[in-house]
Amino acid sequence: MYEHGTMKINAAGHIEIGGVDTVKLAHQYGTPLFVYDTALIKERAKAFKSAFEEEHVAFQVAYASKAFSCIAMYQLAKSLDLSIDVVSGGELYTALKAGVEPEKIHFHGNNKSIEELTMAIDAKIGCIVADNFYELELLQQIASKHGTVVQILLRLTPGVEAHTHEFISTGQEDSKFGFDLASGQATEAVRIALDSKQLKLLGVHSHIGSQIFETDGFVLAIEKVFDQLKPWRETLGFVPEVLNFGGGFGIRYIEGDTPLAPNVYVKEIIKETKKHVQALGWEMPEIWIEPGRSLVGDAGTTLYSIGSTKDIPNVRRYLSVDGGMSDNIRPALYDAKYEGALANRATDPIEDQFAIAGKCCESGDMLIWDLPLPQVKPGDLLAMFCTGAYGYSMANNYNRIPRPAVVFVEDGSSQLIIKRETYQDLINLDQPYKMQEVVSFEN
Ligand code: LLP
Repeated sequence: MYEHGTMKINAAGHIEIGGVDTVKLAHQYGTPLFVYDTALIKERAKAFKSAFEEEHVAFQVAYASKAFSCIAMYQLAKSLDLSIDVVSGGELYTALKAGVEPEKIHFHGNNKSIEELTMAIDAKIGCIVADNFYELELLQQIASKHGTVVQILLRLTPGVEAHTHEFISTGQEDSKFGFDLASGQATEAVRIALDSKQLKLLGVHSHIGSQIFETDGFVLAIEKVFDQLKPWRETLGFVPEVLNFGGGFGIRYIEGDTPLAPNVYVKEIIKETKKHVQALGWEMPEIWIEPGRSLVGDAGTTLYSIGSTKDIPNVRRYLSVDGGMSDNIRPALYDAKYEGALANRATDPIEDQFAIAGKCCESGDMLIWDLPLPQVKPGDLLAMFCTGAYGYSMANNYNRIPRPAVVFVEDGSSQLIIKRETYQDLINLDQPYKMQEVVSFEN
């Protein structure tokens, strides 16, 4: 079993996280249940930050909250002195409600609405990462109406494709995100931003993809960014105070995944930036990064109850759980792979490989195809590991399945941070059908 963070097997043979028995958690809160090991989140945040501190480089580590966002998560991030990256009015609203200081919020997105931009400018958030020409225009209009100046970064598309799943890489030139370098659009965007009284151009941003295990993609992106920065300084006089190299640092989901430690990514980014800066004789800018998955991914575990089983002789043994693509769409969407174990009998000898099926009315709702488990019976508790990023945040109500509860665990105690959705919650937004009067018809 992949024991990570504070996870271990206790004397009862149960999986324990944060010093809390998962069998107890399942009884107390029900299943499916997301369990977050907050000590692991804290350790990761510290690792990213201390890598910058050791190198004496000014920085911001912004939690990419799309990975998992709710009031308590924003508050935890705030307590860890992280900045926050939001990508919608909803995330911005939640972060502000959670008490995050507006100046520590960065706002991303390729189609921020007028309402969303107005909300961000009203709240005086730290920075908006401008994605396209239309947004630059909107920002100037709104800022001028409010008599204010908006701090922005320009999102660049550096044309670097990270080694990752095709659907989750965003750095290639043909992308819906950002200003592309090759065509000169990025240069035009810098010119517009510098000419505007309403915009304060802090620097540039690039993000090359997600679940990245090497540093060479970042090194290449930094090189491409500096290839632009040099002429921009010479011809436009633009000196960036901030360089944001995005997120994408990988985690281990299954055996064979070989992510680097947070400090390795950070130190390489610093080394490469310093190299360019020194060669040009410039001041070192602030470096910002935006980890999402690597802060919360392997800190999350989903507990499911096993229900029906189906053995097809010489074909496959199916075990169905009480959740599925409604709480974790990643296997169906990206063919993402996970590991797991029997949480209530973690030391029992392995009997066979099982296919873990979700309960949604869809053949593709399979969570794991080949999980080695002991002899299993209905009512057993399955722990699926590393579900903390893009699990709950991409959860949905397909088949009107209520979304699970979420708990934080640490030092032997647990706290409910998101309540389980109820059937009542599911119909709260619904409005009754108003029957049209039947018009009688005669001819
Ligand atoms: N910054 C930007 C601009 C991003 O677009 C993303 C992720 C991040 C930071 C955080 O990336 P991370 O450190 O979490 O890899 N739903 C997909 C992942 C989509 C990522 C989108 N952008 C998944 O479940 O794998």
